[in-house]
Amino acid sequence: MKKTIPEFEKMKQAAEKISMLTAYDFPSAQLVEEAGVDMILVGDSLGMVVLGYDSTVPVTMEEMLHHTKAACRGAKQTFVVADMPFMSYATLDLAILNAGRLIKEGGADAVKLEGGYSLVPIVQALTRAGIPVVGHIGLTPQTANQLGGLKVQGRDLNSAKQLVEDGQALEQAGAFMLVLEAIPRQVARQLSTALKIPTIGIGAGLDCDGQVLVFHDILGLFKRFRPKFVKQYADLGHDAVKAIQVFHQEVKSSLFPAEEHTFSLSNEVIQELYGDK
Ligand code: KIV
Repeated sequence: MKKTIPEFEKMKQAAEKISMLTAYDFPSAQLVEEAGVDMILVGDSLGMVVLGYDSTVPVTMEEMLHHTKAACRGAKQTFVVADMPFMSYATLDLAILNAGRLIKEGGADAVKLEGGYSLVPIVQALTRAGIPVVGHIGLTPQTANQLGGLKVQGRDLNSAKQLVEDGQALEQAGAFMLVLEAIPRQVARQLSTALKIPTIGIGAGLDCDGQVLVFHDILGLFKRFRPKFVKQYADLGHDAVKAIQVFHQEVKSSLFPAEEHTFSLSNEVIQELYGDK
């Protein structure tokens, strides 16, 4: 059964950790659902791990919609959060229009947007419009250039305080969950204690109410770079190359297709067609 927003709140109250993993298409969402993960994030990280862009910045609304639809078809019993891509919530009107599309056309249960205090009016407007919102603070890849690159955030006193204020402002504005990316565990712990809504960490330590990672990272399917906070649980990329090499060799040496992969005419039809041969 698909979990609900009140159930995620109850999980926090009961200190039951929430698992979230990204999925971007029908098969990956099916696998994540089969594994029993609590929530799926159709992250704009798909721009890098699926579409081969250098960052998440070029990802468009049409790409997010395309992948959200596919993931939702694959995981009908799992709560799906869809990322709003860069510039899709630059104004209130754009935010409502685009978030609405991710819910109505994409089939997502909630949207996620990156940023702190300055997003308060947008989060208020979306929640008033009936769209559940997940906040995302700390390292926010869409605006990494302003942060000086893909770096850990909240390491000094002022920025740590700012993160806590941002989290509180987003909660008050109506966000029902908050992703904390690449921040010191002590700041994540303070946020997780101060907030009623669940915090989901990625590079934010063990004290968050849940954890999220990227599908391709944990399965060894994205080799371009691996942040310190990623744990790789399998090397499917390596296994895939080995399997594809065997296919390639079997084609070259006529070992594939074997009899069991081949269709044949019945003897009667063969006789009709070719006589006694
Ligand atoms: O896009 C994404 O996958 C994300 C996670 C890294 C939290 O935002």
